[in-house]
Amino acid sequence: MGIKSYFSVSYDLIVRDKIAPYDLFVNSSSVAEKQKFVRIFPQGEELTQDDLAKLRKKYLQLYVSEDQRNLYMKSLVQSDEASDIEAVNFIKDSAIQYLHNVFDPEKEFSTELLYETIKGCKEAVENMIDVLDDYNIDGLRALIGDLSGHDFYTYDHSINVSMYCITLLRAMKPNASRAELVHGGLGGLLHDLGKIKVPTNILNKAEGLTDDEYLIIKTHPDAGIKLLLENEEISIEDLDLKTIGRVVHEHHENWDGKGYPQGIKEKEIHLLARVCAIADFFDAITTKRSYSQVVTISQGLSIMEKTVNKKLDEKIFKIFAAHIGQSNVETVRQLQMSDKFDPSIPYSVLPLEEIKEMFAGDDFGKIRFIDEKEKEKEKK
Ligand SMILES: [Fe+2]
Ligand SMILES: [Fe+2]
Repeated sequence: MGIKSYFSVSYDLIVRDKIAPYDLFVNSSSVAEKQKFVRIFPQGEELTQDDLAKLRKKYLQLYVSEDQRNLYMKSLVQSDEASDIEAVNFIKDSAIQYLHNVFDPEKEFSTELLYETIKGCKEAVENMIDVLDDYNIDGLRALIGDLSGHDFYTYDHSINVSMYCITLLRAMKPNASRAELVHGGLGGLLHDLGKIKVPTNILNKAEGLTDDEYLIIKTHPDAGIKLLLENEEISIEDLDLKTIGRVVHEHHENWDGKGYPQGIKEKEIHLLARVCAIADFFDAITTKRSYSQVVTISQGLSIMEKTVNKKLDEKIFKIFAAHIGQSNVETVRQLQMSDKFDPSIPYSVLPLEEIKEMFAGDDFGKIRFIDEKEKEKEKK
């Protein structure tokens, strides 16, 4: 272990009149460049409103140790003091920190780093599942709109995709197990992991990707699964890395078999990867920052609807669309996404085309299986 590090916490978000689930520290160094952290309140003791007021008078800023980040995150999720936005923002910042560990080109990639990243990301996803417990896709849209944005598109995008995956899975299967949600959410969070192997200048190029550059971007699903599965020593409790690997590998496969990298089709594509593809597509076209032009929710849904049975799984898409409130009040012009659209490329202008006809949908069926284990259980 290296030097212990700490993160600052806001007084308003610290537990009160409860047993403190984490230690509180202050920085007692008087030299700006130096830091010396001293524990001023121990984990396991009751922290009253009074105690907190006294601390507030004495110290400008309190800190929590990085090893207790997950304890702090959990208490934030359960706390009445913190709003959902505050809780999700903290979870998001934590996930970004973990993702940044592997995405930062300055840091040397190692199995240990990847292990720490996946473990941290799993904790973030677990807390996300708890916060999003009573959210539907519509509510999630609003929440995402209120969250703080960051400079790096990949991080915000990955977190949004993860949240959509969790919420969509719940909509598909209200009694989804914790394990299913964790794998879906983590698959979403790590889906673009392979992009760490793609040079940033190519990733951020909005216009005029050459064929060769596009080929390089298209290597990210293969690169991602390689990173995840070549390190056989990595094993994390309650986590099946092979399932996560399939989401990472198969999120650009299309229902009709014309996707990449393998060109597999329909249910050959892992269910969680098909869920991720919908989340990926939707976030790519409706969330600002990804492309300078974004479309409205109803335009977004209408665009996606036209790729059903080509790119997207119809059953899953219909559940997704049915859970977005505005989907039925569509009076705007009908748009269609050009076949060349790929959610992994930034566009300054989306390749949209206007069309006349609307897709007419049927009722959606039930999706019963989330993973192979479930399927086996069902067979018995
Ligand atoms: Fe991708
Ligand atoms: Fe993506």
